[in-house]
Amino acid sequence: MANKKKLILDVDTGIDDAIGILLAVKSKRFDMLGITTVCGNVSVEAATLNTCKVLELVEAEEIPVIKGAVTPLLRAPHYEHRVHGEDGIGGALKDARPKKTADEGFAPDFIIDQVLKYPKQVTLVLTGPLTNLALAVKKCPELIHHVKEVIFMGGVVQGQGNVTPVAEFNTYADPEAAKLVLEAGFPSLTQVGLDVTRQVLLTDERINAIQNETLASYIRESTSIYRQRYFERNGVWACAMHDPLAVSLAIDKQLVNTQAFHVEVETKSEFCDGQMICDFQHQWGKDRNLQVCMDVDAEGFFDLMIKVLNS
Ligand code: RIB
Ligand code: CA
Repeated sequence: MANKKKLILDVDTGIDDAIGILLAVKSKRFDMLGITTVCGNVSVEAATLNTCKVLELVEAEEIPVIKGAVTPLLRAPHYEHRVHGEDGIGGALKDARPKKTADEGFAPDFIIDQVLKYPKQVTLVLTGPLTNLALAVKKCPELIHHVKEVIFMGGVVQGQGNVTPVAEFNTYADPEAAKLVLEAGFPSLTQVGLDVTRQVLLTDERINAIQNETLASYIRESTSIYRQRYFERNGVWACAMHDPLAVSLAIDKQLVNTQAFHVEVETKSEFCDGQMICDFQHQWGKDRNLQVCMDVDAEGFFDLMIKVLNS
């Protein structure tokens, strides 16, 4: 474990979160300190059950799973069963009854404990609403000085939203949490937005390149409704690998180009709540608080993802 990157993955397991978990585990690049779950696509209970199912699928039951926030900081939950299915992983593993259950503890406390135990060594990758990290920062503000890096899937700075015309789901579901995290002062905070995740589309051809039959059939089944919805909206049978891209950046940051900007989150608007506003021309003259992913090597990402899943 000595030379492996210490990782905490925070998820709202969902279809793409689950593939992100598979990528993190199968990459064998991480000392997986734990997976924390949060209310997002589905309830935190469902996200926890789905996470345990996926870990058992790849025989990684030893990885701790710690439950987190039951609701966003202020808002009511905004589940996305239309996209992720009733269970949250597209109906795959529906007969699975995992022996594994959540470990003791509360996710924000787990994040604090592990980051303070391993100062400047822990990478946080978050692929759901930022509620758990926001709660951790509220409880332990000096956390920001001890985290190695934070990478989160969320927001969109140049394109359309996927929940409202301007807001992406993770940020829309808990805009106050996103605002708090962006204002906290993390020295290394990377945003993986729809701007780049929409460019990494999982197609049949790419699924067929996964030789591990267990994983190929799981991914094919779990993403079928995701790809159906994408087809209905865009006329292409595919689905964006939002969360796996965020995980992949903890393996290889060279897959994206980033630029530092000042970014704010709207939390008091009738039409634009959850919007991420990027000060591209530095007009506000404020600190550049975010590394924004501007473009991605999509082929390079899938080469990595498929190589890892086939390993
Ligand atoms: O907008 C996409 C994000 O919202 C992904 O993390 C997906 O799992 C949902 O949580
Ligand atoms: Ca997610």
